[in-house]
Amino acid sequence: MDKVKVTIAGSGSGYTPGIILSLLNHKELDVSEIRLYDIDKEKNSDMETIIKFLIKKGDYGVKLVRTEDPKEGFEGVDFIFSQIRVGGIKMRELDEKIPLKHGLVGQETCGLGGFAYAMRSMKGFSEMVDLIQKFNKEAWILNYTNPETIISEVVRRKYPDAKIINACDMTIAIEEIIAQSFGYNRQDWIPIYYGLNHFGWYESIYDKSLKKDVMPEIIDKIINEGLNTEGEDPSWASTWKSYQSLIKTFPDRLANNYLLYYLFSEQMVAKEDPNYTRANQIMDGRITKIKETVREIKEDPNLESIDYEGNNHGQYIVDIAASILHDKNDRFMLIKPNKGAIPNLRNDASVEVPCYVGANGAEPISLRNDIPDFHKGLMEAQVASEKLLVDAFFENSYYKALQAFTLNQTVPNAVVAKKVLDELIESNGDYWPELH
Ligand code: G6P
Ligand code: MN
Repeated sequence: MDKVKVTIAGSGSGYTPGIILSLLNHKELDVSEIRLYDIDKEKNSDMETIIKFLIKKGDYGVKLVRTEDPKEGFEGVDFIFSQIRVGGIKMRELDEKIPLKHGLVGQETCGLGGFAYAMRSMKGFSEMVDLIQKFNKEAWILNYTNPETIISEVVRRKYPDAKIINACDMTIAIEEIIAQSFGYNRQDWIPIYYGLNHFGWYESIYDKSLKKDVMPEIIDKIINEGLNTEGEDPSWASTWKSYQSLIKTFPDRLANNYLLYYLFSEQMVAKEDPNYTRANQIMDGRITKIKETVREIKEDPNLESIDYEGNNHGQYIVDIAASILHDKNDRFMLIKPNKGAIPNLRNDASVEVPCYVGANGAEPISLRNDIPDFHKGLMEAQVASEKLLVDAFFENSYYKALQAFTLNQTVPNAVVAKKVLDELIESNGDYWPELH
């Protein structure tokens, strides 16, 4: 098997151990080198301590490089997994708290918090892609930096020929919780799904062993029994509870849980504590845990094991890499320019649909049917607002940003849109492009 070199960009993230273990344990990948690249040296060094420990404990013969230098980070590798979060968790906290203060959805990727993050992300992600193009045009970038539709739109406009695949694990997580709640085997499924990222629906889920579309019975089970949230973290458990209401209200198709923020915005806001949001939970949870684990490793040279291996969040991205490398044409939900994949939606939207992934990248699978007007209408508004935000970014246009904010479906009127926009401009400073 060919040796593979992989860089994790944004390696200071708490998801890194899970991704690296997925990489090292993958039967179809022979990884010879892993590079941890992050602009935050402290976070990167902490992660290096944990990864070194895991490599030693598992006796994986792999070279590990930690770097804050893009040339050293990118040159000569086969894959770059991007999980950079521009502004880090501190800025996520503001993305959540500022809209909430005005009574609006305050969320990492949805609503105006998502737009605030998008402005930072478009800038940081483009800067990173420019560096990758400079140092290593040949590498595949497997991106899961959020907000993914907006990042994909930047890629569509600015880097149409770059080797980038935009992927999100949410559909996998939805399928997994459903499969484990009701005793299905997800490996038997051929799902058809359409949408924008964090904004879509299943058309059908064909089960190969049961030889039928199981989506109707899954919808019945979610409505009547609810999902099994045992072992889920409290915030996700609460999302899956609310999900049941979403499916009860719109029981014709299985929706992505993130639609809760658009269709049940008032209820989602009411559940939040504006002074202690998801970002605070993560600071007190994942991030504190990293620090503790690093301390344990440093204090005890004979330490047998650590209680931090991450989850299988990274498996998906690693499977995509294997499918490219071995031209397997496995099927994944990915975000691509529409170009007819959803036949009755504008061609220049960036959509999330099933794709085959091989040596040549991702090939979208076209839907056979038009999508229903309800979904189309919601998506058209969302696409337009996201495109306006991307316009605002490229044109430094305050007016386009205001239009984007006003059109966002979590926002009731232009007055509050302007208030939140002005506050976000203030709090994001140089992370955002200048708008005038
Ligand atoms: C899912 C989504 C990601 C999102 C993450 C947030 O995995 O697909 O796009 O970033 O959830 O999870 P967190 O635990 O950070 O709130
Ligand atoms: Mn996602």
